[in-house]
Formats: sequence, C-alpha cells, structure tokens
Amino acid sequence: MASPMRQKLLHIHLLGIVPYATAARLQERLVSRFLASKPPSNAPAPPPHIITAEFQPVYTCGRREIGTVAPQQQDFLRANGRAEFVEAMRGGQTTFHGPGQLVAYPIIDLRTHKLTPRSYVCLLEKSLIATCAKYSINAMTTENTGVWTTPDDKIAAIGVHMRRNVTSHGIGLNVSTDLWWFDRIVACGLEGKRTTNFAKQGVEGKSVDAVGRDFVQEIAERLQGVEGVERVEGDEVEELLET
Ligand SMILES: *[C@@H]1O[C@H](CO)[C@@H](O)[C@H](O)[C@H]1NC(C)=O
Ligand SMILES: *[C@@H]1O[C@H](CO)[C@@H](O)[C@H](O)[C@H]1NC(C)=O
Repeated sequence: MASPMRQKLLHIHLLGIVPYATAARLQERLVSRFLASKPPSNAPAPPPHIITAEFQPVYTCGRREIGTVAPQQQDFLRANGRAEFVEAMRGGQTTFHGPGQLVAYPIIDLRTHKLTPRSYVCLLEKSLIATCAKYSINAMTTENTGVWTTPDDKIAAIGVHMRRNVTSHGIGLNVSTDLWWFDRIVACGLEGKRTTNFAKQGVEGKSVDAVGRDFVQEIAERLQGVEGVERVEGDEVEELLET
C-alpha cells in the first residue's frame, strides 16, 4: 500500500487562449498515466493534477448526445467558423466554452482521496461556491446540476467523466464570458433558464487566471491527502505533452 503521505496538487495552467484539443490531449495523457498505474501494474500512482485553461470558442456536446447533433445544427453552432463543435466524453449536455470562461479539469484517482463519484461532484460544487464567495457572489446548488446565482441563473457548469475511478473533464465557470454564445443554445438542455457571469453579478475586471488560482486552492483544501498546490506552466507543460 502507498503510504498516506501528503502530496501537492499539481496545477497545470495552459497559457493564453488555447484550442479545446490542447487540453483534451493533455487530459488524455494524464488519465493514461493513472490507468497505467492500476493493478496488475504496481507502478506508483501519479500525484493529483488539475488543468486550468481558457478555450477558443467551442461548443461541446456530452457523451449521451454523441451522434445526435444534426449536421445543420453543428453548422449553426460553428457560426461561420467563429466556433468549433466537438463531441466530448463527459456527462451533461451541449454547452459553450470560450474566452472569459475558466475551465478546470481535475485528473485524480477518487480512491486516493476517499471520494465516491457523488462526493466528488459535491466537492466540485462546494469549491465553485467558495470561489464565487471570494468575489462576494452568492452562489448555490439547485435541483439542476451546476452552480447558480438564482434558481434561474447558472454561473458554472459541471460535466465529469470517470474511468476506473480516474476523473476527467470537470467544470466551466463564467467569469467574463460573452453570454451571446449561450443565447444560441438551450443552455444545458434547460428551457427558460438564463446564463450569468461574474460581470453580470457586478464583479468586473477579474482575470480567468486569478479566478482559476482561487478555484484550484479551494479544491486542494478539500482533497484528502493533499497539502498545497504546485503550479506548472509554459515549457514544463510542453515537456509533459511530449513525454
Ligand atoms: C472505484 O473505487 C471503489 C472504492 O472507492 C471500488 O469499490 C470500485 O471497485 C472502484 N471502481 C473501479 C471501476 O475501479
Ligand atoms: C455559463 O452560463 C451559461 C448560461 O447560464 C450556462 O449554461 C453555463 O453552464 C454557465 N457556465 C459555464 C461554465 O458554461
């Protein structure tokens, strides 16, 4: 058995505004490393990771919608080449990611941190609510997934995937996202709901990077066996992508 030593949460921040595929590739690489350390292998498990990024405009659909989004709808979503359309292996429905939105993908083994899939989602929700509170935004959970500022205004989306208890995908939090992108879809499959962001909540001029650091801190504080965060960016990320 691995000793219950306290580990740092490795925070990989992708600089700039990156294509969805860059984060997807990195995520895939990390998940493979975790899976490769599972029995029958007795290689040590990698430390817990979290990737944060800000994406170029992209609509992604969830795994239950794969193959169901008609070509005309995909064309509409691409908005004359202004956005991409991608099918993702996560829970949840079609949503938008783009500039001004924090995306965070924790890649962890739930067993290492004594989490169940349900308590993991709860941890994500609590961390999102605490992050919003840091900016004096009062957020909550409702009967619908995600995190809301009122029962009708969604500020953050949650869509996760798990393979043998190894997590991927994660959350999106609207910091200064142009909400026009959401007006074009029935956001998260819920009619009559609106979308919101920090700016609309009266919090202007916050960078996605700053909010991302706060969110990662909140996650680290709630993960059993984790003490502190180590940030990885720039060339170090390139190396990770190559190895
Ligand atoms: C996930 O972890 C639980 C214990 O936390 C274990 O019972 C279960 O078998 C694991 N699932 C997979 C698919 O490895
Ligand atoms: C941003 O707002 C839209 C509209 O409420 C919502 O669908 C979305 O889930 C929110 N958050 C993210 C990260 O997409």
